[in-house]
Amino acid sequence: MRTLYRHARLATMAGELPWGWVERGALLVDGEQLAWVGADEALPAGLAADAEVELGGALVTPGLIDCHTHLVYGGDRAAEFELRLRGASYEAIARAGGGIRSTLAATRHASEDQLFASAAARARCLIAEGVTTIEIKSGYGLTEAQEAKCLGVARRIGRELPVSVRATSLAAHALPPEFEGRSDDYVDALIDWLPRQQAAGLVDAVDAFCETIGFTPAQTERIFTAATSLGLPVKLHAEQLSDQGGAALAARFGALSADHLEHLSATGVAAMAAAGTVAVLLPGAYYFLRDTQPPPVQALREAGVPMALATDHNPGTSPALSLLLMLNMACTLFRLTPEEAWRGVTVNGARALGLADRGRLAAGLRADFAVWDAEHPREMAYRFGHNPCRRSFFGGIERPRALHP
Ligand code: NIG
Ligand code: FE
Repeated sequence: MRTLYRHARLATMAGELPWGWVERGALLVDGEQLAWVGADEALPAGLAADAEVELGGALVTPGLIDCHTHLVYGGDRAAEFELRLRGASYEAIARAGGGIRSTLAATRHASEDQLFASAAARARCLIAEGVTTIEIKSGYGLTEAQEAKCLGVARRIGRELPVSVRATSLAAHALPPEFEGRSDDYVDALIDWLPRQQAAGLVDAVDAFCETIGFTPAQTERIFTAATSLGLPVKLHAEQLSDQGGAALAARFGALSADHLEHLSATGVAAMAAAGTVAVLLPGAYYFLRDTQPPPVQALREAGVPMALATDHNPGTSPALSLLLMLNMACTLFRLTPEEAWRGVTVNGARALGLADRGRLAAGLRADFAVWDAEHPREMAYRFGHNPCRRSFFGGIERPRALHP
């Protein structure tokens, strides 16, 4: 079945033109894929469609990609937010056994169905804004069975909702209380779980939190060695609160991405550029922790490091459920241009997940796209608290209109 979508204003995010702009464009969708993308009048005569859909000049972009989330967890951290407002720091709360560990307890207590219900509700918020691919990390279970439970919930989101899910194992997120004072033993344990997670089809990539309140560079290196020997790509929470040299370490392992990066050094930037590691910027966490040191965007830009953008949705540092809001925050807080921000949630978001089949509107790629009540995508970087997504297509199939406002 081939359907031709005509009379759209296309921001393809592909090719040389700014935004990959096509003023009067058309998309030919064949099954799950885009068979042809271009100017309306340039449609080759030989490309017959079974059906035509008139888009009436509406703006069309690729489906959005949220390449860094922690969507599966129990409870919330609203009380911790109040503590921080009274002066406690994120690190101090974590050291006192709160923070990630309090979410750990709530997640362990939650059933698979409860976790699915809460994570699916969050995923629907992202879907409403035209998101068609979501990365979901584990990291709030921290035993083999609990991590499998959370990764299984991530997989179930991908099966039951019209969205692609990439599941990342982040067992190296925090030290579980059972391993107090024995962090190297915990690293041994999580390395031992990996082949079984992989054999169960639960994991697409491996991540770690390399930080003074997380895992050391030496421990991260052990985890990365194990992951890469299994053929699993790696990513890293790097340089969020301090410079641990994590980004350069990740680059040495050919990491898909290094994420956060507020404290990234010039050495880290150069290593990422040489390795082609994507910088995933997370303005929601920067904002919510009231950080004052933004990531070195100008240095990343000059070095040609691709920049992606994500919600980092999690209960502790970024309870954000709007990727559109991140477009605005990346521009206002990090001084990205609107086009850079959009590349961050499309083409570079795909690259941060190692996915070459999406993130742009081009022949041969997945037919994941969104239709907007807007003249130009820069408007979504400009406004905030507003969702003009009206329709979206996932693998060539229109998602229920009720999912959109
Ligand atoms: O990406 N930095 C570590 N992980 C999360 C925070 C997790 C939490 O506080 O629950 C992040 O910011
Ligand atoms: Fe994160």
